[in-house]
Amino acid sequence: MLNVKRISMLIALVVVDACAAACGPVIPSTSEYLNLETDQEDRPKTYQDLVVGFSQIGAESDWRTGNTASIKEEAERLGIELMFSDAQQEQENQIKAIRTFIAQQVDVIGVSPLVETGWESVFQEAKDAGIPIILVDRRADVPEDLYAVRLGSDFMEEGRKAAREMVKLLEGKGNIVELVGTIDSAPANDRYLGFREILQEYPDMHIIASESADFTRAKGKEVMEDFLKMYGDQIDALYAHNDDSAIGAISAIEEYGLEPGEDIKIVSIDAIRDAFQAMIDGKLNVTVECNPLLGPQFFDIALKVVNGEDVPKFIPSEESIFYPEDAAEVMPSRKY
Ligand code: AHR
Repeated sequence: MLNVKRISMLIALVVVDACAAACGPVIPSTSEYLNLETDQEDRPKTYQDLVVGFSQIGAESDWRTGNTASIKEEAERLGIELMFSDAQQEQENQIKAIRTFIAQQVDVIGVSPLVETGWESVFQEAKDAGIPIILVDRRADVPEDLYAVRLGSDFMEEGRKAAREMVKLLEGKGNIVELVGTIDSAPANDRYLGFREILQEYPDMHIIASESADFTRAKGKEVMEDFLKMYGDQIDALYAHNDDSAIGAISAIEEYGLEPGEDIKIVSIDAIRDAFQAMIDGKLNVTVECNPLLGPQFFDIALKVVNGEDVPKFIPSEESIFYPEDAAEVMPSRKY
């Protein structure tokens, strides 16, 4: 592969060859150096050898910003050459970025797929070029042989956890509105299903409205305003697929004249710093953690994959649940 490190090596070889011609055969020939390079390629790669392409979704939430920072900081710490691309919430941009990484012959590609579908051909192109794909955070709906491993959260379990917390808050009875994440994304699909899986055991808990807020504060506010216009104080609780949309909804509830966390109980997902502040302020009842700090694990896996080591197909992140009573103590240690 022709990256900066290899180009420098080739320049060195040309200089060495020129000198060999002028000064006699004391210095090893280019082919010997090339053998040396082959030997180096036979040895396991180190972090400093790696060229990694990463296709990020965008910057829709504090979770995502934390995820990007974790990847960039860890690449820098390990001395990895990282090619980072921000798709600004467009799948088309992610596909273009992956094609560019393939053309540049990177060693490995990390991708957090915006939505579940539509990845098969571009992943096949990476496979044909011998470049492994690592799914970071979100899942893609493709045959398992088209990616090496997925590192991220168990989104179904997050949905189940949120539902169990909601059951406790409502004591098994009440009307819930739901702010769904990005349509067709793995976390939105699974958080939707996981929540319902638990709720089906509670016939007196009803989801009376469910709309996408696209994981953003702006949409969270807008959709909650609509819910309030339609159902007003019939709403007992809000289930938001992420903290950012819950925070947007909190403003809508306040503007409507109700007390978030009291009149309308709120359970959301991510555990960003602002969610801790909302819990300290009594406006959010529970946040289920979804860990974005995946940089260290991602590069560890990338190196293993490039060196042909076995890795499990799915590596789940470890996550907890946070409540208002612990928020003040925990908040200073939160990194996102
Ligand atoms: O894929 C993870 C989800 O994406 C996070 O829960 C959400 O905040 C983000 O935008």
